Amino acid sequence: MKAVVMNRPGDRDVMAYVAWPDPQPGPGEVLVTVAAAGVNFMDLGVRQGKAWTETPDPKVMGVEGAGTVRAVGAGVTEFAPGDRVAWVYAPGSYAEQVVIPAASVVPVPSGIDDETAASVMMQGLTASHFATDFYPVQPGDVALVHAAAGGLGLLLTQIIKLRGGTVIGRVSSAEKAVVARAAGADHVIIDTAGQFAQQVRALTGGIGVAVVYDGSGPVTFQGSLDALRASGTFCWYGPVLGAPEAIEIMSLPRSIKLGYAVFSDHIPTPALLRQHAAQLFDWIARGQLKVQATTAYPLKEAAQALADIESRKTTGKLLLVPAGR
Ligand SMILES: NC(=O)c1ccc[n+]([C@@H]2O[C@H](COP(=O)([O-])OP(=O)(O)OC[C@H]3O[C@@H](n4cnc5c(N)ncnc54)[C@H](OP(=O)(O)O)[C@@H]3O)[C@@H](O)[C@H]2O)c1
Repeated sequence: MKAVVMNRPGDRDVMAYVAWPDPQPGPGEVLVTVAAAGVNFMDLGVRQGKAWTETPDPKVMGVEGAGTVRAVGAGVTEFAPGDRVAWVYAPGSYAEQVVIPAASVVPVPSGIDDETAASVMMQGLTASHFATDFYPVQPGDVALVHAAAGGLGLLLTQIIKLRGGTVIGRVSSAEKAVVARAAGADHVIIDTAGQFAQQVRALTGGIGVAVVYDGSGPVTFQGSLDALRASGTFCWYGPVLGAPEAIEIMSLPRSIKLGYAVFSDHIPTPALLRQHAAQLFDWIARGQLKVQATTAYPLKEAAQALADIESRKTTGKLLLVPAGR
């Protein structure tokens, strides 16, 4: 088969589209023909050598996708060849085929196409965790969403709106502001220098926001703290762009809640994973959640897709589609 590997940590030149041995499913695993693989910001962290270092290079990149089961290993009873499935946190997804533990895949309903399913496994499950679990948004809450035109940001904005919240989006350009507004953001601030807190305070009558969702690195951290209302919640989630300096706890605004949110820590069983994915697919089937601004690249263009997300110019979800799909 063909796959996209990284030969060592580094820039885009460490990635290559190569012939790679066909994977075989072992006990408890399924072999899937990949229809679409999701590109995530974390893949950039992997390419840069900041994550997934325990697996030696060269390794097939990518952790998310959707496709059709081709074969199952011993002991797999809940899936059969021909079933359509999606997955996240399954290493080796930038490929024509991937082997995944059966416990890590979810069934895809007939009304949801492969590209849509591949688009929501990482960013949709993360967004729904942030807005329904880490901080359950209440009607009337005002939320600040960073990178509101990105893959995660567009889905998070819609889920906050579904729950009756108001969204202030922060983006880096006027083009991105248009995309964020189209997803339902009530207000959009254009900023790249961490200077947004005053505008957030003005938009909230001086009160600040109930919750800030910030995966945009050290530049935004202090502004996000300053934008919070009394007893607000800070949902921090972006390791790839880096963390703030060590925090002196007594320097934080009093009574806020601050945490590093990762959805998979909260849905550790296959049953919960499938339940949360089914909720996303149901919102999509009902037209309540839209996968917007998707860009599909041929699988062999994976290095370009990651260079594009790194360049800060992309909006929405980026997908990789194997040849012949
Ligand atoms: N904790 C978790 O479980 C989890 C899960 C999924 C994703 N994440 C994190 O969520 C964030 C968004 O992920 P995504 O996959 O949906 O990507 P994305 O939002 O589609 O793209 C990354 C966004 O980061 C913003 N950004 C800020 N500073 C940047 C810089 N120096 N270079 C490039 N982009 C910059 C850009 O928005 P602006 O240009 O508008 O600022 C860009 O749209 C990432 O930080 C990712 O690591 C965390």
